[in-house]
Amino acid sequence: MDWVPEDIDLTRPSAARMYDYFLGGSHNFSVDREAAAAAEQALPGVRLAVRANRSFLRRAVKYLVGKGIRQFLDLGSGIPTVGNVHEIAQGECYGTRVVYVDIDPIAVGHGRRILADNPDATSVRADLRDPLRVLEDPEVRALLDLDQPLAVLMVAVLHFVPDAEDPWAVVAGYLDRLVPGSHLVLSHGTNDDFSDEENSGFETVRQVYQRTSSPIVVRTEAEVAAFFTGLELVPPGLVRLSDWRPDSVEQWKSWRCGIGRKPGPIG
Ligand SMILES: C[S@@+](CC[C@H](N)C(=O)[O-])C[C@H]1O[C@@H](n2cnc3c(N)ncnc32)[C@H](O)[C@@H]1O
Repeated sequence: MDWVPEDIDLTRPSAARMYDYFLGGSHNFSVDREAAAAAEQALPGVRLAVRANRSFLRRAVKYLVGKGIRQFLDLGSGIPTVGNVHEIAQGECYGTRVVYVDIDPIAVGHGRRILADNPDATSVRADLRDPLRVLEDPEVRALLDLDQPLAVLMVAVLHFVPDAEDPWAVVAGYLDRLVPGSHLVLSHGTNDDFSDEENSGFETVRQVYQRTSSPIVVRTEAEVAAFFTGLELVPPGLVRLSDWRPDSVEQWKSWRCGIGRKPGPIG
């Protein structure tokens, strides 16, 4: 398999490859599929959630291109499957620039391969928890002009950043550097709607992800809302995945998502 880097530990599941499996992708191993199955058994519906999440991502990117955004920084972008941000954005407007960032070597390796002939998109291996380093990366700067509005996507990724690492400060680290008219697109697993049974199911899911290099946390709607501090929330605001400008029938209750716009005059 030419997409498997030599230094991959095939005995340890990866959050990126488990997500790929949930989406029906082919860049995963039996250790990932077994971990994903254990998570799904503990919290049925997880596959529905990731598909609803992906569908929100598609609608969000289309919305932003329609609003004139021509550059996207997709943090924690995952292993490319179908409906990738560059396909959506460049399909809506040719020449839209997209930089994918992920910590997972397979996500970035596969991304670089499929983007080899795309002059307006690339994939960079980096840790999103270091905003300065990401924003100063030469490949990021070669494609993205930070003096123009851009969209930062943090879709289904901040639940891999524990409170102790202050994910709110991480988000602010990106937003502080961006000009007015830039946007934050975010989705996040929440537990406000969990029943007691789902809470105990999530505890098993947490233990499953503990085996990966990306332990998972779940937050309340109020904690997720705090990521949008200082931004104007685009209507309909912070809502369930299936309630953000839906264009198909989907139901998944235990996440929240939204888009915030950095206010101020556009230079
Ligand atoms: C659940 S997937 C989400 C993929 C995509 N954003 C989506 O919503 O379809 C989360 C991704 O975040 C990546 N990730 C986790 N922690 C990260 C970090 N600190 N820096 C960069 N990527 C990270 C994982 O490798 C994985 O590919």
